[in-house]
Amino acid sequence: MPCTIVAGGFWGDEGKGKIMAYLSLHDKPKVIARAGVGPNAGHTVHFKGKKFGLRQIPCGFVYDGARMLIGPGVLINPEVLLKEVSETGVGDRLGVDRRCAIIERRHIEEDRTSAHLKEKIGTTGTGCGPANVARVNRTAKLAGEAPELKPFLADVPLEVDEALRRGDLVFIEGSQGFGLSLIHGTYPYVTSKDTSASTLAADVGVGPTKIDDVLLVFKAYVSRVGGGPFPTEMPPEEAQKLGIIEYGTVTGRRRRIGSFDFELAKRSAMINGATQVALTCLDRLFKEASGASSWGQLPRKAQAFVERVERELGVPVTIISTGIEFAHIIDLRAEKL
Ligand code: IMP
Ligand code: MG
Repeated sequence: MPCTIVAGGFWGDEGKGKIMAYLSLHDKPKVIARAGVGPNAGHTVHFKGKKFGLRQIPCGFVYDGARMLIGPGVLINPEVLLKEVSETGVGDRLGVDRRCAIIERRHIEEDRTSAHLKEKIGTTGTGCGPANVARVNRTAKLAGEAPELKPFLADVPLEVDEALRRGDLVFIEGSQGFGLSLIHGTYPYVTSKDTSASTLAADVGVGPTKIDDVLLVFKAYVSRVGGGPFPTEMPPEEAQKLGIIEYGTVTGRRRRIGSFDFELAKRSAMINGATQVALTCLDRLFKEASGASSWGQLPRKAQAFVERVERELGVPVTIISTGIEFAHIIDLRAEKL
């Protein structure tokens, strides 16, 4: 799997951060490139007793042998980026593509004051939508023009291509999720760009013939922040009874919760071209699954759920997460691939 895309299957917050961090420590990729919209995403990773909510830097930073890249399709808020550079200490192995567009103060103000964006759509207020509008209008400032980014500027597509030619392992870390796609999602309640695997590849400048694997990440239930349709949503009291209460990493808003949506998952697997599926938070749905690190440790009910996902999607479930620790992972790749 020299070039693998990790993508979100539902409406974001599927636990891509934990999966990326695990895969990076385990597989030791030479390059990890972040794709997706920009700092509207928050990827959570628990590492060495600290909790990181990363919005720009790939969560794979936990493996210190990897070069960290941010692809030209991704929007950059220099302030957020520099803060994460100092928190993670990855400055000497970080490359930001010159063509990344910059989020400016006016974009954030517009995102936070527009009734349409803020109230109706329920955006994250991080300026991503207005910055992408500026990009389409061809008035956006690019990273190459931002003096504070100078130490990090890179040609990300070229670096990724060189790595792949050497036969190095490359991970593309997607953000958001399929249901938020501007093209395939629940328009107008979506983000400002396509979020499927094809665009994640384009975000870092990798052609479709160079992608070997698409690992699609689903939570064992569904969550959504902001407005928009949610067919399997349950009342907040019901979610609370199940012990599932979540707040957004970027906005702190309470997430809407629902049961696993097989119809959406099937369509998501189809359009993402998923070759593997990761299921996260199995422990939140099946308490006895908590901390399991092998298939045999899962309660029968949880095994049956995983088997149903595989059967309905027609894609093998290769990674199962059962808690926040890196050890709380069932990695079935050796058996299933
Ligand atoms: P925007 O991307 O900030 O314009 O927000 C548009 C919609 O996408 C809102 O419903 C946001 O809550 C949602 N959204 C954007 N990024 C993420 C994410 O990373 N996780 C979850 N929801 C997101
Ligand atoms: Mg998130």
